[in-house]
Amino acid sequence: MRIALVTGGMGGIGTAICKRFAETGMTVIANCLPAYPRKEAWLAKMAADGYRTVQAAEFDVTDLVACRDVIGAHTKEIGPIDVLVNGAGITRDATFRKLGAEDWHAVINSNLNSLFNVTKQVIDGMSERGWGRIISLSSVNGTRGQFGQTNYSAAKAGAAGFSKALAQEVVRKGITVNCVSPGYVDTDMVRAIRTEVRQSIIDGIPMGRLASVEEIAALVAFLASDEAGYITGANIPIMVACTCMANRCDPQSVCARHSIRYWMRIMVQRITR
Ligand code: CAA
Repeated sequence: MRIALVTGGMGGIGTAICKRFAETGMTVIANCLPAYPRKEAWLAKMAADGYRTVQAAEFDVTDLVACRDVIGAHTKEIGPIDVLVNGAGITRDATFRKLGAEDWHAVINSNLNSLFNVTKQVIDGMSERGWGRIISLSSVNGTRGQFGQTNYSAAKAGAAGFSKALAQEVVRKGITVNCVSPGYVDTDMVRAIRTEVRQSIIDGIPMGRLASVEEIAALVAFLASDEAGYITGANIPIMVACTCMANRCDPQSVCARHSIRYWMRIMVQRITR
C-alpha cells in the first residue's frame, strides 16, 4: 500500500486530494499546523465519510527541523513516503508599494521554502526505492503574475522552477516531479478576496465559474499514479485558457470590446465610491 504525504492536507484542495488518494487505496498523511484547531473535527469527518486510511501530521512546513522530526517519526512508524504533494500555502495580498517585509517573507517561506524543507525529507528514500511522485501546487498567477501578488506570484513561479530542475535530477530514479497550476478555485482563499474584486475575477473567467477542488484533485491523483510515469518536469495549468467565448473574456486580455467593458466598470466603481 503506497503512502502519501499531503502538506496543507486539511485545506480545501488538500482535503479533496486526501480523499482521492484514500479512494485509490493509499495511506494518507494529512499535514496541518501544530495545534490546528480543526484537526480533530477534520479527522472525525474523514473517518465518518469512510476515509479510514487517513491520519494527521502536525508540523510547520516553514520549519526545517520540525519537517525532519515529524516526517521522520511517521516514516519510522508506518513506512516511507511514496507520494508527496506540496500543497501548503498562504496569501498575503497587497500592492507591492504597500507590501511589508513580513508578508513578503511569510509567503516565500510557506509557499516556496517549504518545498525545500519537505521534499528534502523524502527524496533520498524515493531514490533508493526507485519510485516516487512529487507534485507541487503552483498557480496560474505564478506564470502570468497577478495584481497585488508579487510575493505569491514569485513563490509560485519558484515552485515551477524547482519542479523542473528537480525533475531532471531524479528522472532516472523512477521519480516524477510535476506542478499543477490551478486558476481560481472555490476555496476559502478565494472567498477571502474582497467581494467586488472576486466578482470581477469570476466575470473574467470564460466558463463563468471557479474551479472545484475535485477538479484539481483529479489531476493530482492522475500524476500520482503509475500511468503518469512518463510525465515529469511539467507545470500543468488547470484553468479556462480560452478567452472571448460566450461574451466573456479575461479582463486584462487584448480584446478591445471586453477591456473597454472592464475599464468602464472600474470607472463606475470610482465614481460611486
Ligand atoms: N490591474 C490594474 N489596476 C488595478 C487592478 C488590476 N488588475 N486591480 C485594481 N487596480 C487599480 C484600482 O482600480 C485602484 O486604482 P486607483 O488607486 O486609481 O483607484 C488601484 O489599482 C488600487 O486597487 P485596490 O483598491 O484593489 O487596492 P487595495 O490596496 O485596496 O487592494 C488588493 C489591493 C488587496 C491586492 C486587491 O486588489 C485584491 O484583493 N486583488 C486580488 C488579488 C488576487 O487575485 N488574489 C488571489 C488570491 S487566491 C489565490 O492566489 C489562489 C490562486 O492561486 C489563484
